[in-house]
Amino acid sequence: MITSAAIRQHFLDFFKSKGHVIVPSAPIVLKNDPTLKFTNAGMNQFKDFFLGNKQSPNKRVADTQKCLRVSGKHNDLEEVGVDTYHHTMFEMLGNWSFGDYFKKEAIEWSWELLTTVFQIPKDRLYVTIFEGDAKENLPKDEEAATEWKKWIAEDRILLGKKKDNFWEMGDTGPCGPCTEIHVDCRSDEERAQSDGASHVNNDHPQVIEIWNNVFIQFNRLKNGTLEPLPAKHVDTGMGFERLVRVIQGKQSNYDTDVFSETIAAIGNIVNKKYDGSDSRQAIAFRVLADHIRAIGFAIADGQLPSNTEAGYVIRRILRRAVRYYYSYLDYKQPLLHQILPVVAHQFKDVFPELQAQTDFVKKVIKEEEEAFLRTLEKGLKKVDELIATAANGTIGGSAAFELYDTFGFPIDLTELIARENNLTVDRAAFDKELLEQKNRSRAATSLETEDWVVLVKDGGKENNSPSFVGYEMLELQTKVQKYRKIKAKGKESFQLVFNTTPFYAESGGQVGDTGILSFDGEMVPVTDTKKENDLIVHFTDTLPVNITAPVDAKVDVERRKHTAIHHSATHLLHAALRRVLGTHVAQKGSLVNDEYLRFDFSHFAKMTDEEISKVEMMVNEKIRENIPVVIKELPKEEALQLGAMALFGEKYSDVVRVVIMDPNYSIELCGGTHVGSTGELGLLRIKQETAVAAGVRRIEAVCGLAAEKYIDEQINDLKQVKQSLKNPKELSKAVDQLLAENSELKKKLEHLENRMLVGVRNELLQKDQIINGVTYIGEIVEVGNADALKKLAFDLKNNLNDYVAVLCANIGGKPFVAVGISDTVVAAKQLDAGKIIKEHIAPLIKGGGGGQKNLATAGGQDASQLSAAIEKVKGLL
Ligand code: SER
Repeated sequence: MITSAAIRQHFLDFFKSKGHVIVPSAPIVLKNDPTLKFTNAGMNQFKDFFLGNKQSPNKRVADTQKCLRVSGKHNDLEEVGVDTYHHTMFEMLGNWSFGDYFKKEAIEWSWELLTTVFQIPKDRLYVTIFEGDAKENLPKDEEAATEWKKWIAEDRILLGKKKDNFWEMGDTGPCGPCTEIHVDCRSDEERAQSDGASHVNNDHPQVIEIWNNVFIQFNRLKNGTLEPLPAKHVDTGMGFERLVRVIQGKQSNYDTDVFSETIAAIGNIVNKKYDGSDSRQAIAFRVLADHIRAIGFAIADGQLPSNTEAGYVIRRILRRAVRYYYSYLDYKQPLLHQILPVVAHQFKDVFPELQAQTDFVKKVIKEEEEAFLRTLEKGLKKVDELIATAANGTIGGSAAFELYDTFGFPIDLTELIARENNLTVDRAAFDKELLEQKNRSRAATSLETEDWVVLVKDGGKENNSPSFVGYEMLELQTKVQKYRKIKAKGKESFQLVFNTTPFYAESGGQVGDTGILSFDGEMVPVTDTKKENDLIVHFTDTLPVNITAPVDAKVDVERRKHTAIHHSATHLLHAALRRVLGTHVAQKGSLVNDEYLRFDFSHFAKMTDEEISKVEMMVNEKIRENIPVVIKELPKEEALQLGAMALFGEKYSDVVRVVIMDPNYSIELCGGTHVGSTGELGLLRIKQETAVAAGVRRIEAVCGLAAEKYIDEQINDLKQVKQSLKNPKELSKAVDQLLAENSELKKKLEHLENRMLVGVRNELLQKDQIINGVTYIGEIVEVGNADALKKLAFDLKNNLNDYVAVLCANIGGKPFVAVGISDTVVAAKQLDAGKIIKEHIAPLIKGGGGGQKNLATAGGQDASQLSAAIEKVKGLL
């Protein structure tokens, strides 16, 4: 049997032989695209080439791309595992033409590859072409039909609607008609019974699409119109796992060698067999085998599970997997992390980033599993309660929503458990709450962008000449190429793109530049600069009156300088950490601005004080050496051979920028801005070292002026302490002495207070009344603090049996109230001190409080109401 690895290689070799350059997969996690969180198609990394923002150095490329389709326009999550041919993460084999060949070659080559190289029988293949769409004013794709007729019988060329045969990347962006290739994998008997054509695009598990050839010709604008692109392109995507299944003659993607080792590993752990049936157990096997890949590769590319955005997508996938093994494989321990090494090993030659970080990724997954297993158990207890108290045989929508939202229970799990207990879930009410939550979060995070208003069509510059010139220049004259209005959290602002710009756009952790634009003397501040794919976008609150005027663009030089100091410091710190802690340290996140640096890195234990000071000393030594910072552009391979540190999950081009601070100390691939030599950093101080997530530590540090300020603050604090202590010779001795005296005094005071409280208590006991058969004491007393008041109310139980006491005090002008009720009265009179305090006393004295049934306290603002508080409780009794 031909292996999946060989199939992948044949694909790449085939397109290489047709003049394509083989490029690496882009990271699965996307950083600079506001419309997407994860790579969801092979073409994502080429979006700018299609739109004409940039020109590709190669007109023909091919690759295998890690994709994830679990959010946004393309979302298959609920199908995964239930069927045998959808995945969360999958490999998309693709070939691209950027303004080069078009339909003729694309169609001819896909036919040649499938039928000649892979020898898929021609009588099992069907193709679809776009039938046109009157509403969009798009014609039928006659050209594709003509090309196909050269290769395949006419009755195997089917017409398809916009839904299947007009591919769009998202709500906006590159798009065009497409032709899909489908394979009929049914047995000969089944094929004799019904025509394969009738099953194409009809969810038949054995008649599946394997390849989509898109002819990119338009850009879908925000207003819905299709704008023709400057050139025509080819974008193809073939589902690797499906292709392997067809070639290996299997009925399910999970029966191929892409998944077989992982499935065997799961079977060994849970001591069960994958029988491939439709049982929940079989689904669980598939869910795990699929999800571990998505989770593993996303974490390896830098996306940790979290509670927001992309991190939450990964968390949800992981929880879905945990829920499946917990419920259907009867396995109650963390499992996923155990199978990760199998996946890492399998992909070590294709996507080596997982193998290189196995320990780290395993650790993150394990902790995440442990945390969710705890939640799951709590959630199951909650379900038991719900079952016990369900009214009319129904679990309410709000309760189901709480399980979903707080305990991570997917609704189908709640429904399943409900069914097992002869209950139903109010699904309509659940859906309503879910929709409301979605709308809330959409309103909170949504960014509305209008279409670009293009002023200069080709940017007035040579294609591919760099638009960022801010390494050398901090001020220049330029022109607005295009602009648009945006709205975020209800606030309107603008984005401007220039021909060339000195403004650094946020990336690699370094913040975007701010500065000032002058249009014919009209000043417009730039509040931030960000990247959108490869476009540099400047944010402003207003638009100039004369936007077409030449603009003088000037970066805030001071802010840039202090930011550069912190960026160079980050490199020195990174190198020091690897020397002090070990080479397992890899950057996991970074923030660099003019005030401080924040550096997240993989490491498994809290750093000791000694390690921290070692790192600090090493960096400061490198600062004093005043090493010149050398920046070079080199071919990527050469840079890596020099030992340059590259980050996982980062997309690098063939020529990379290398920042060297002593070739024997720090070489990093980096696009950021830096100082001329390390002496400019002055001094580094580490402010703190904390945990961010499983296996990830965070250092916050300051350099240069910020370090000076930090030290000044600390010295000033110390000075003040010294002064307050009347400048003792030995400060720490003086402080120790003070602390010792203080604790001695506290003890004495406590003793005296206790004696005083005994006195107050004895007085109170004289003032008791009997109301409704219960001893009642309501008094304003004099005590020094709220704790004493509470103790007094509590200690009454040593002297009284059935009692209600309400004790009040005015302490420094603030009212405090304590209510104590003996357990007997709580039971007999249905009185609850906590409720009384919350509902009656706290509002009265304008404050808050709470407690137990037998003892509760409140503090407030209005001390004039103390007598009223006493009367209130008396009334209740
Ligand atoms: N972009 C198309 C798809 O994702 C073809 O690669 O299907």
